[in-house]
Amino acid sequence: MQVRMKQWLLVVLATLMCGMLAPATAADVKSAQEQAARQQVQPGNNAPVWRDVRGGENAYQTTQVRGIESDVLVQPGGETWRQLRNGPITVYGGWVIVLVMALIGVFYSLKGPIKLHEKPTGRRLLRFGPWDRMVHWGAAISFVLLAVTGTIILFGKHILLPVIGYTLFAWLATLSKNVHNFVGPVFAFCTILLFVTFVKDNFPKAGDMKWLVKAGGLLSGEHVPSGRFNAGEKVWFWFGVTLLGVIVSITGFVLNFPNFEQGRLLMQQASAIHAIAAVLFLVMGMSHIYLGTVGVEGAYESMRTGYVDETWAKEHHEYWYQDAVAGNKGGGASRPAVADALKEGWK
Ligand code: HEM
Repeated sequence: MQVRMKQWLLVVLATLMCGMLAPATAADVKSAQEQAARQQVQPGNNAPVWRDVRGGENAYQTTQVRGIESDVLVQPGGETWRQLRNGPITVYGGWVIVLVMALIGVFYSLKGPIKLHEKPTGRRLLRFGPWDRMVHWGAAISFVLLAVTGTIILFGKHILLPVIGYTLFAWLATLSKNVHNFVGPVFAFCTILLFVTFVKDNFPKAGDMKWLVKAGGLLSGEHVPSGRFNAGEKVWFWFGVTLLGVIVSITGFVLNFPNFEQGRLLMQQASAIHAIAAVLFLVMGMSHIYLGTVGVEGAYESMRTGYVDETWAKEHHEYWYQDAVAGNKGGGASRPAVADALKEGWK
């Protein structure tokens, strides 16, 4: 009780001192007059004071520490951000993720993995060199870590908390937040390397439109030829890796390093944009991971070992295969792939 009294006394003293230090402005005087008038008609109603506080017009010096927004007692944008984050972003974002997972599940149960039509020849082409794979897995591992921890941060309160309880969830949420904060910059760095490494084979080419219109034959089973990367991979590269990668990285840095004079409003906006872009990135990423693992037979092997079978190359990236065999590395075939093909005497 005594401690409480002491705390209250300190608060009153600090408030009085602030009042003495900050000179009263015309707005302060008007506000005080309005409040006094309100007390006459409705004693105990402090609406004028709180309207001022929320309006941010009066500089309420809440601390002697000078810094950005140290005179903002209540920032109304915080409530807007809270409602947006805990409302539409979480609810619709959550349903978008569930929907995409369900669609992938239905697609897999109806179609199964896309298999090779012809028998593998046993001759292999180098599709991804050690650098390609290292950069890819750096981005992939950091992405998965961010996806898991980000999902816990955004949806955990609704999904995990009721199941595992406060003690465990508090521990898990704190761990997720710290992992997320440290892995974020690693992902941004890997994404830049990924962009530089793969950009040359992701420019639009003749045949991409046809590939998109036919959805790569994913539904019909038809063979649609493509270069080193097909149009679907190019969409993932430009809209996922590049655009969404830049958006989540920039907004992530705004949130991760709050010591560059950014105010709360900017951070709230960054947080909302970060969450929306992250949900879109996650669903695009899930589709990419599906096709890169169980969805397409032999695809995972290519990124794990770097090599693909000649039949795989022919059936999935025919132009790339033809370029490699013809010794035409300008067509998108990598230098080692060309060398391998020539060495084997395929011409
Ligand atoms: C665990 C998750 C992942 C798996 C299993 C995976 C798998 C694969 C596979 C198998 C390929 C080769 C496809 C082919 O041969 O054409 C590939 C290509 C690629 N992946 Fe991933 N990946 C994952 C996550 C990611 C992430 C998080 C990113 C970027 C943020 C990414 C970016 C790329 C890029 C840029 C390519 C080259 C194709 C292109 O430029 O579109 N991957 N991935």
